[in-house]
Amino acid sequence: MKKIGILTSGGDAPGMNAAIRAVVRKALFHEIEVYGIYNGFQGLMEGNIKKMELGSVGDIIQRGGTMLYTARSEKFKTEEGQQIAIEQLNEVGIEGLIVIGGDGSFQGAKKLTEKGYPCIGVPGTIDNDIPGTDFTIGFDTALNTVIEAIDKIRDTATSHERTYVVEVMGRDAGDLALWAGLADGAESILIPEQVEDLENVVQKLKRGQERGKKHSIILLAEGVGSGVEYGKAIEEATNMDTRVTILGHIQRGGSPTGFDRVLGSRLGASAVDLLLAGKAGRVVGIQKNELVDHDITEALSQKHTLNLDMYKLANELSI
Ligand code: F6P
Repeated sequence: MKKIGILTSGGDAPGMNAAIRAVVRKALFHEIEVYGIYNGFQGLMEGNIKKMELGSVGDIIQRGGTMLYTARSEKFKTEEGQQIAIEQLNEVGIEGLIVIGGDGSFQGAKKLTEKGYPCIGVPGTIDNDIPGTDFTIGFDTALNTVIEAIDKIRDTATSHERTYVVEVMGRDAGDLALWAGLADGAESILIPEQVEDLENVVQKLKRGQERGKKHSIILLAEGVGSGVEYGKAIEEATNMDTRVTILGHIQRGGSPTGFDRVLGSRLGASAVDLLLAGKAGRVVGIQKNELVDHDITEALSQKHTLNLDMYKLANELSI
């Protein structure tokens, strides 16, 4: 393999730039040409491809977002779109593709691999919802962003003796809510994997109020429902002064943490190693701090599992 390509796809995540840098530098170290594909699969179909040099990835390791930009493409989901993408890759002579993104992006990588085009997936999403890896690139930074925000919310919550519902990202996955809830000592954590009755949340709040608690934080993953609706329901049921904060896309930005920079660097470099070893249709990951790789079809057929022991612990600590 003499030429490889790299793209980022789906929601951006802090640490993606560290992964791009690692792919480019590792490839150049092995004297392989690297091509950056801009705007994800959409840009690939449009031939938005540029050769990358050592300096192309200078001064990016500390930056959030993705220097290659990203997109969610409906057209690429079609046979026609995938065919056009392969033609674009062949035209430049790119022999293997590294795709950094979440499960939607991996579906794209899987499709191309099934059509005989070697792809390797690198898990990058703040949701931490990719099976076969303990952590995805961007999760740790997003977690720390949420923690910082909740620490601030707690100051005003205490001053006004209020209850806060904080809605965090995570369409189908509760990792961000669970980890932030545990790290912040939230009273209740509402996640899609473990639906909790509103009545339990209300009873817990009332018990807290009875023993003189001045404020409460409820962590809600967006996949469970609307924070605004939950806020209303909680205020009605408890009569407590309640406010709602939706953290939104602030969770996706910011300089990556040390953990995400290291994770991005390790996973990006490992994806290059796999391509050079002639592998295709694999996703890289980290398990027990060791680099691993799995078959992409198998990884996509599995469901990400949330650490229920952590959920239990969070509940025990917030009685
Ligand atoms: O998958 C990452 C994620 O941030 C989810 O947590 C969230 O539901 C979604 O992307 C938001 O997508 P968009 O940026 O397209 O609004």
